[in-house]
Amino acid sequence: MSVADARRRIGVQKGRTGMRTQVGIVGAGPAGLMLSHLLHRHGIDSVVLESRSRDHVEHRVRAGVLEQGSVDLLCRTGLGERLLREGLRHEGIELRFAGESHRVPMTELTGRAITVYGQQEVVKDLIAARLAAGGTILFDADVVRLDGLDSPSPVVRYRRDGREEELRCDFVAGCDGFHGVSRGAVPEGVLTSYERAYPFAWLGVLAAAAPAVDELVYAHHDRGFALYSMRSPEISRLYLQVAPDEDLAAWPDARIWAELRVRLETVPGWSLTEGPVLEKSITPMRSFVVEPMQWERLFLAGDAVHIVPPTGAKGMNLALADVALLGDAFAAWYGHGRTDLLAGYSATALRRVWRAQHFSWWMTSMLHRLAHDDPYEAKLQTATLRYAATSRAYATSLAENYVGLPEV
Ligand code: APR
Ligand code: PHB
Repeated sequence: MSVADARRRIGVQKGRTGMRTQVGIVGAGPAGLMLSHLLHRHGIDSVVLESRSRDHVEHRVRAGVLEQGSVDLLCRTGLGERLLREGLRHEGIELRFAGESHRVPMTELTGRAITVYGQQEVVKDLIAARLAAGGTILFDADVVRLDGLDSPSPVVRYRRDGREEELRCDFVAGCDGFHGVSRGAVPEGVLTSYERAYPFAWLGVLAAAAPAVDELVYAHHDRGFALYSMRSPEISRLYLQVAPDEDLAAWPDARIWAELRVRLETVPGWSLTEGPVLEKSITPMRSFVVEPMQWERLFLAGDAVHIVPPTGAKGMNLALADVALLGDAFAAWYGHGRTDLLAGYSATALRRVWRAQHFSWWMTSMLHRLAHDDPYEAKLQTATLRYAATSRAYATSLAENYVGLPEV
């Protein structure tokens, strides 16, 4: 074995000028961590650099719905144990509108299901798996610049413990979310962005209350959208549509419960269960895509290149789908010198991204009270919801998108 081979085999090398690895990964969210895990399974070394602490990323309350394909990916790669034990498999969702309640029987319509399992639980499982396998994740490492992306040896510069450090690699994976630095490292004029801002936000609540429902409830109401979700048999996760500039301080717990009751208790005999609020936050709603998802030796994945409004529950699933492609593409490159999968990564990933963009926009448009208060639009929403509730064809379209399309 040559010295170069030995270095490559060892992968993470601390030298005079810093570390060297094969794939430098910016960000320890689902995208970055899953990519590192997949690369390891292919015998490819990586280093993950994350600006926040381990405790922070493991406890950040985020999304909670895994598509069938995401569950399959996690199980297939050895991450299914706790997921299958603690995750809640759901075979339908409920649509509530105009005082009616309708179940969309997703599994009956598609043969597939979703699993409710918090994003931070996925993150915890991934971190544990990487560390158990001897992987390198540097927390509190703030990436400040990417250099040499158009050379064979890009450099990731980061700050840690007050010092400037560098990581040399063959490729960089920018998995650092919407506010990360990777996307900005692409020269001006290369990327095109597509955006839509919505004139509302979601107020999300995590509550120590046993869910009063077995399946998620998506509720259309004159006062605005509400969603009843959960994390476990003891923990509910609820959302309310609010103004985009809403002040959280204006929402004491009692007001939140009162508003949830108004928007959700629209079906005779059904009532909400309340409990102590553990966490609350406001999430803006936007749709955003940047194309292409690659420039030279920089590959972008997850929220760094696309954002969806949470109504379709697609954010975490898209992040995982991106890096599943990227993992195979790097394996083909390192294993067989093939360039086609890396070259095709962006175009292939964008097909799923745009399907999810459309679905998320559609669900959002159908369920929210629109700012301009257009009575015609409100009638169209009810007509669309009733169609989804009564037509097997339309419900199947909703269901197959919701559980995730195997091929796009
Ligand atoms: N240096 C290092 N790490 C960074 C930097 C930086 N300059 N900037 C951001 N990060 C880190 C963030 O702290 C975060 O932990 O990148 C990580 C990005 O993770 P996510 O935001 O979780 O993004 P992603 O992995 O693409 O997952 C997408 O997250 O926001 C949800 O709804 C979204 O479910 C979707 C999922
Ligand atoms: C969640 O449980 O956090 C959740 C569920 C469904 C969504 C969005 C968020 O559409």
